[in-house]
Amino acid sequence: MNVHAAASNLAQRFDEQTSAFARDAIEGLSKLPKRLPPKYFYDAEGSALFEQITGLPEYYPTRTELGILRARAAEIGPMIPQAAAIVEFGAGSTTKVRTLLPAAAIGAYVPVDISGDFLNAQARALRQDFPKLAIYPVTADFTAPFALPEAVRMMPKVGFFPGSTIGNFEPFEAAGFLRSARAILGSGALLLIGVDLEKDDRVLTAAYNDSAGITAQFNLNVLARINRELAGDFDLSGFVHRAIYNRERHRIEMHLISRKAQTAHLLGHHVVFRAGETIHTESSYKYSVERFNTLARGSGWAPRALWTDAEAMFSLHALAAAE
Ligand code: AVI
Repeated sequence: MNVHAAASNLAQRFDEQTSAFARDAIEGLSKLPKRLPPKYFYDAEGSALFEQITGLPEYYPTRTELGILRARAAEIGPMIPQAAAIVEFGAGSTTKVRTLLPAAAIGAYVPVDISGDFLNAQARALRQDFPKLAIYPVTADFTAPFALPEAVRMMPKVGFFPGSTIGNFEPFEAAGFLRSARAILGSGALLLIGVDLEKDDRVLTAAYNDSAGITAQFNLNVLARINRELAGDFDLSGFVHRAIYNRERHRIEMHLISRKAQTAHLLGHHVVFRAGETIHTESSYKYSVERFNTLARGSGWAPRALWTDAEAMFSLHALAAAE
């Protein structure tokens, strides 16, 4: 591809992403209650804030899952077939996949993410430490079907979806993701998936209302992003972050509450707020092992192994593609 074609491709992708953001933001802010999809948290600023969240004392999921991956590497490694392609859904830090690489003879690593920049950074970081590893990044929205690179089509497949990102999907979306992962990875595949567990409300609410206020900044960044990318004029000081645990629905809900009656604009649209009105920005579903297994079974996967930490805070499931 020549430079001009590459540049115009990039411009087209940028436009597609921005117009999807515009469409989803306008649609979500027109609903009652108002909502914004959580996937729009993750621009460069939001991803950097999320990285900070993963190191917060109150935010237990990242370190707990990493502890499970490290402690169980000797059991997980032998479940990964020789020369398998590891397909990671979503590119973040490479810390978690690094626990799998020395534990098995991996054929290729395929990180999949909508942001080409994150993918390239991830590939660069891994190439330094694993120079012989074949890496085939795929720029795609992994919540929709996408094609695997030709080079890995014949390899056995292991999907990797850590971080309990599945918890940010509504249950019907989680089922849709599992079905689509089953179709993409094919028969004989294994899926390693991290799932946050239900627990004491206080532990959960503290994890999403950290004392340093980083989660609040992360939440507010979605409005800052609307201001940056969609010609918005949201007054960030006019909103306050709140995270509550909704036990009936098994989910943490993150909200941005309007401190006053106010009107904001984006791309010429008016968004009117009453004082105290909320924008629901994220749900983070928590599962029991049984409820997750039921979801997996109903979505083309058979539970094969399960690991948790000593306090049963977090779970790592190995699922086999059901035939
Ligand atoms: C990425 N995801 C699993 C995080 C979670 O815990 O639901 C996102 C997050 N939101 C606030 N803190 C972390």
